[in-house]
Amino acid sequence: MPDSAPLLAVSEVSVRFGGVSALADVDFCIEKGTVTALIGPNGAGKTTLLGAITGMVGISQGRVALCGRDITALPPHVRARHGVVRTFQNLEVFANMTVLENVMTGRHALVPYGILDGILRTPRFRAGERACREAALEKLEFVGLADKKDILAGELPYGSQRLLEMARAVAAEPVLLLLDEPAAGLNTQETKALAGLIARVRDELGITVGLVEHDMDLVMGISDAVTVLHFGAVLATGTPAQVQADPDVVAAYLGD
Ligand SMILES: Nc1ncnc2c1ncn2[C@@H]1O[C@H](COP(=O)(O)OP(=O)(O)O)[C@@H](O)[C@H]1O
Ligand SMILES: [Mg+2]
Repeated sequence: MPDSAPLLAVSEVSVRFGGVSALADVDFCIEKGTVTALIGPNGAGKTTLLGAITGMVGISQGRVALCGRDITALPPHVRARHGVVRTFQNLEVFANMTVLENVMTGRHALVPYGILDGILRTPRFRAGERACREAALEKLEFVGLADKKDILAGELPYGSQRLLEMARAVAAEPVLLLLDEPAAGLNTQETKALAGLIARVRDELGITVGLVEHDMDLVMGISDAVTVLHFGAVLATGTPAQVQADPDVVAAYLGD
């Protein structure tokens, strides 16, 4: 595969829900090592595009390629195994599991043992569990929640649950991490901390990030590239400065 291929390339993708066209002929690239933002008004098709990338949403036309390899026909769990991982717009932590157990579920696709190993508690199962626990703890340290590892996730304040979600997502060792409005419901201070964390995911963990977000300070502060969606089509793409100065973008989205 060519080295020059972007990490993710969405080409001419269209999605229809019944009679509604949610995405029309969308081209969207994410270069390796970047935080690439996807912005646009509510209903623009941002979440649908993330679904098309992970395979959870069926596309009626177009292609999705990872590192130059066509993954359009692959189901979501296989794309996940190739490192395409997402979080959801609505918070989804398991309230009745501990913080650490929540993060361990993120490594589910990586464990080297089968169901039978688990039932029989084979040495391979126990070694795998230990490695999984250690890796999960490392991710909790990364997001600053290690001291909360044994409490129930439902008892964490909302902002910490959002961090827990990030820890669980990076525990899956993604190649491409897609975040759907990670700052939703966070206050200004929490949003700033989240921005720093996302930049560290890119810089320290080497994970490429696709970021859907409404908070423009967050987006413009950490993104290497920005694509603007409007009514299911790409309105503009460029650096944060280019996109902010684009008259079409200002008129459709950024203007008051
Ligand atoms: N599962 C679905 N069934 C029908 N229509 C949907 C579905 N998901 C999204 N849509 C529609 O597709 C459009 C894009 O939605 P969405 O991708 O959620 O936008 P955004 O994330 O940018 O707010 C909207 O008109 C929405 O109502
Ligand atoms: Mg959405």
